Amino acid sequence: MPDTATAHFRDELDAIKEAGTYKEERVITSQQDADIEVASGDHVINFCANNYLGLANNAEVMQAAKDGVDEFGFGVASVRFICGTQTVHKQLEDELSAFHEKDDTILYNSAFDANTGFFESILGREDAIISDRLNHASIIDGVRLCKADRYVYDHSDMASLEEQLQDAQDARVRVIATDGVFSMDGDVAKLDEICDLAEQYDALVMVDECHATGFMGDGGRGASEAKGVLDRVDVITSTLGKALGGATGGFATGPQEIIDLLRQKSRPYLFSNAVAPMIANASLQVLRLLQSSDQRRAQLWDNATYFRNTLEARGFDLKPGNHPIIPIMLYDAKVSAQMADDLLDRGIYVISFSYPVVPKGEARIRVQMSAAHTRAHLDRALDAFTDVAEAHGVLS
Ligand SMILES: Cc1ncc(COP(=O)(O)O)c(C=O)c1O
Repeated sequence: MPDTATAHFRDELDAIKEAGTYKEERVITSQQDADIEVASGDHVINFCANNYLGLANNAEVMQAAKDGVDEFGFGVASVRFICGTQTVHKQLEDELSAFHEKDDTILYNSAFDANTGFFESILGREDAIISDRLNHASIIDGVRLCKADRYVYDHSDMASLEEQLQDAQDARVRVIATDGVFSMDGDVAKLDEICDLAEQYDALVMVDECHATGFMGDGGRGASEAKGVLDRVDVITSTLGKALGGATGGFATGPQEIIDLLRQKSRPYLFSNAVAPMIANASLQVLRLLQSSDQRRAQLWDNATYFRNTLEARGFDLKPGNHPIIPIMLYDAKVSAQMADDLLDRGIYVISFSYPVVPKGEARIRVQMSAAHTRAHLDRALDAFTDVAEAHGVLS
């Protein structure tokens, strides 16, 4: 590499470190679970995975992945339209469609791909995207790749959304795009009101259900189901990499015409290898588990309610909400980071989030519940949180 380039990249890395936003990666030496082993050999209780239903190391899901290797091989070494489509891909797409009560589904290697490949495939210069200001990076990137006019509404502000819809009335097609659940705050989009406005202003609704699929709504169909609008949301994108087992993979599900267009035009689908068949096979098992019992969902919500209520009773300042994401507000980035370190010393693995991931002055520790947490795990964490918070003088 030329010296000038090396110097430039080093400067940039130094600037990231200087800004305090350099991300270190901690190495886990065990399977993903509520109780994990880290490189030091210590065991810690994990409160920062998206392993909402505890399926990341579920024996039946892992067995289905192994069966998938035996039956379909390790990989297909092809994009879908050349020679990369196996029966297991078609079966998973069909079952995801049935689960979400939609016409058809298209698989991707990630939800990031599903979102970045969505807008430019179905919209052109004559169209408009109306996007929540706090949408996930993958929606933002997807919007950037598309030539449609862009409108941004203030986070979950329905008056602002209506204004943008009015401004976009000349467009040929209007798409409202929103996260179903916003991951930094754990707040749920006002999907019922969004669907009302979409109807009034003749717009499509696209919802990213990554932090909701599998556990929100009576059947685990996401925030759309929880808000009673599954049939009014046109397109759902989501991930196989969180509640649905935590491997990799994503999908978009919706009307036939849209999914057909995505198969023809969506670049992360057309120009990227097919999802590994073992993941597709294991995901079928996940869907079976989701539909055969409510037990994991109930456990997750029970854990979330217990943890939130106890923290509140002990004087913690929480973002209001009702989701397994529980943000403990500390405001000061240094205090938040120090508390996360102190908690790790106590065997509680949590992450502090500060600017630019969250707004300046809104640093927090984001706790994520899992159905795999036992009451003993939660009580140990609650006691550690209380001790550390008292030591830092942040309880009210
Ligand atoms: C709201 C949201 N959308 C999309 C993604 C991307 O999901 P995946 O890991 O499947 O690419 C994430 C993951 O962080 C997310 O939180």
